[in-house]
Amino acid sequence: MGKFYVTTPIYYVTAKPHIGHAYTTVIADILARWHRLKGEKVFFLTGTDEHGGKVEKYAADAGKSPKEFVDDVANSYKFAWDSLNISYDKFIRTTDKEHEVAVQRFANLIWDNGDIYKSKYEGWYCLPDETFIPDSEITDEKCPYCGRPVQRLQEDAFFFSLSRYREPLLRVFDENKTFLMPKSRYNEILNRLNDELKDLDITRKSVKWGIQFPPSPDHTIYVWFDALLNYISALGWPDGENFKEFWPADVHVVGKEIAWFHSVIWPAMLLAGDISLPKAVLSHGWWTVDGKKMSKSLGNVVDPMDIIKRYSEDAFRYFLIKEKPIWEDGDFSEKALVSRINGELVADLGNLVSRVLTLASRYKGEIAGDIDLENADIDKISSLFDSFDVTGALEEVWKFIRSVNKYINDKEPWKLEGAELGRVLNNSLEAIRVIAILLEPFMPASAVKIREQLGVRETKFSDIKLSTFNGSVKRGENLFKKYD
Ligand code: MSP
Repeated sequence: MGKFYVTTPIYYVTAKPHIGHAYTTVIADILARWHRLKGEKVFFLTGTDEHGGKVEKYAADAGKSPKEFVDDVANSYKFAWDSLNISYDKFIRTTDKEHEVAVQRFANLIWDNGDIYKSKYEGWYCLPDETFIPDSEITDEKCPYCGRPVQRLQEDAFFFSLSRYREPLLRVFDENKTFLMPKSRYNEILNRLNDELKDLDITRKSVKWGIQFPPSPDHTIYVWFDALLNYISALGWPDGENFKEFWPADVHVVGKEIAWFHSVIWPAMLLAGDISLPKAVLSHGWWTVDGKKMSKSLGNVVDPMDIIKRYSEDAFRYFLIKEKPIWEDGDFSEKALVSRINGELVADLGNLVSRVLTLASRYKGEIAGDIDLENADIDKISSLFDSFDVTGALEEVWKFIRSVNKYINDKEPWKLEGAELGRVLNNSLEAIRVIAILLEPFMPASAVKIREQLGVRETKFSDIKLSTFNGSVKRGENLFKKYD
């Protein structure tokens, strides 16, 4: 039996879950569910990234202690993921004791190996907020949080000898051409890696809300260095059973903006710690909203809870995956969502299930007969999943749904009777049973509803094949609602 370890990034607690976080998480969930369906042992990890100067500031602004603040946000993530039917196996928080211990252990390990040295960090500093701010977030020498002027400051910091790993990383990219997907991102990161690789400052003296750096406890560990280690600390690195069973990760699902951290910095850290590398990093594109970049100031941040309440978790999941190839950027709008619900979920899938079940529940004869409908192309779907192309896989499932609709339109079962009707009903019900299995990774709630109406039990991978129907039909309510 195979194993499959899939992760999402751990999300910053400085924002509530939005469509971007939901997107990454849904992709990972679909992969996890597919591999469970295949009978593999799956570990699906998600969580929250809770340290750093920003968190201290946000907590103070909210009149809370950092701990109270991060607890609240972590809960809002858990609530959102439950509402979206995310089947994670573990929710890690970087404030978990076991994580903090693992990070310190790792820092000590590479300190002892001579991969960390002391030097000076220079950057933009906001005095009132007491925070260093990355160059990329500064415009007009103003703090992006409070708008007040920033100044150039220096402080002591410890550095990770990232540059030492440039050659080994180039080898990794050369030996594994799908180490980072898609190809365009692979090329982009490889070019950057070919250019230069600077050492990375990994401690902050000015940040208190963080994990102490053991060799010099007046420093805390830089959030990214802390955060990336979640992927192994969650498994109980170095001695945990889960670490032995599930590491290396089969895939880290991340957005394009953090591909560098996951395909360069993280592998370098692992090389420094003599730990094997993940098999793949999958970096997806971004969503704009109604054609604009999503931002707090524009007030167009899409809250998944809001969409789930007004439509359904499955409509939202379906839209996210179907609307654009995962590698590319795309636009979210309610108009587009409604159009997919009406034109595909209701018209293709909902109607198929309701018309077949209506006919079948009226029919008193035997439901059986030869199969004269082509099976779904499981090999193709599997190979699309192997290359993490969940959009392609869903499209392939939809092709099958459309072919079943065509079969019914051609056969016109409402005009048939006797054995011929029994045969067409058998094939249509079987097709719907197969559809329910194939849809489970994408729309788990709808898959359950279909199964209940068919009166069939939960199924295995080997059941994805048209055969003789042995459920007991109970026509239920429509799967999806039409919207204006
Ligand atoms: N805390 C870091 C990750 C550390 S992992 C060791 C972080 N967190 S985050 O809260 O910013 O979430 C990042 C994830 O959200 C990425 O996968 C990113 O692509 C996703 N998205 C955030 N906004 C997005 C869009 N507008 N569209 C699609 N996804 C985007 O980075």
